Amino acid sequence: MARLAVFASGNGSNMENLYSYFKDSISVQIILVCTNNHNAGVVEKCKNKNIPIYVFSKNDLENGSVENALIKHKIDWIILAGFLLKISDSLVATFNNKIINIHPSLLPKFGGKGMYGKHVHKAVISAGESESGITIHYVNNLYDSGKIIFQKKCLIEKGDTYDVLAEKIQKLEHVYFPKIIEQIINKKNTT
Ligand code: GRF
Repeated sequence: MARLAVFASGNGSNMENLYSYFKDSISVQIILVCTNNHNAGVVEKCKNKNIPIYVFSKNDLENGSVENALIKHKIDWIILAGFLLKISDSLVATFNNKIINIHPSLLPKFGGKGMYGKHVHKAVISAGESESGITIHYVNNLYDSGKIIFQKKCLIEKGDTYDVLAEKIQKLEHVYFPKIIEQIINKKNTT
């Protein structure tokens, strides 16, 4: 059984979706949700569903406390689902190729520091793009630049606002993120 920690600092819709998807899985289990933001929607969602949540500070992330907690819980994989802080170099080294992020654009376009949530969709619309999409990728020491695992496109129609685009992207995220995580984990477990 692969033991997952989901990191999220926002609304937590992906966390909730992943949790439902893997609830009865025999190969993947979400052990812990980790956040640096005690006011985030994800905290309320965890409380409502009795999902164990670990709230930590930026300092805890940098001084090794978070890493120790993950080791204590025997976590195998870290899933970033709307987590805004940079993952420490030490965590990236310890969980080498075992940290997966989802980004709401077709990387390398519209990635990097400050490119999150609506900022991404606003930039995509302002640039007059005719398509956007999601990218699922491994996490390395730089923002949004680890090896790409999977991308899925959606069309941007004339007149689409960034809210409309955000909805299209969220639908893709909810369909593909759990499936791709499952595939990656099962592949690694059998090789
Ligand atoms: C998603 O769009 C994801 O791609 C990005 O952060 C957002 C999280 O949304 N990394 P939610 O909090 O899961 O609703």
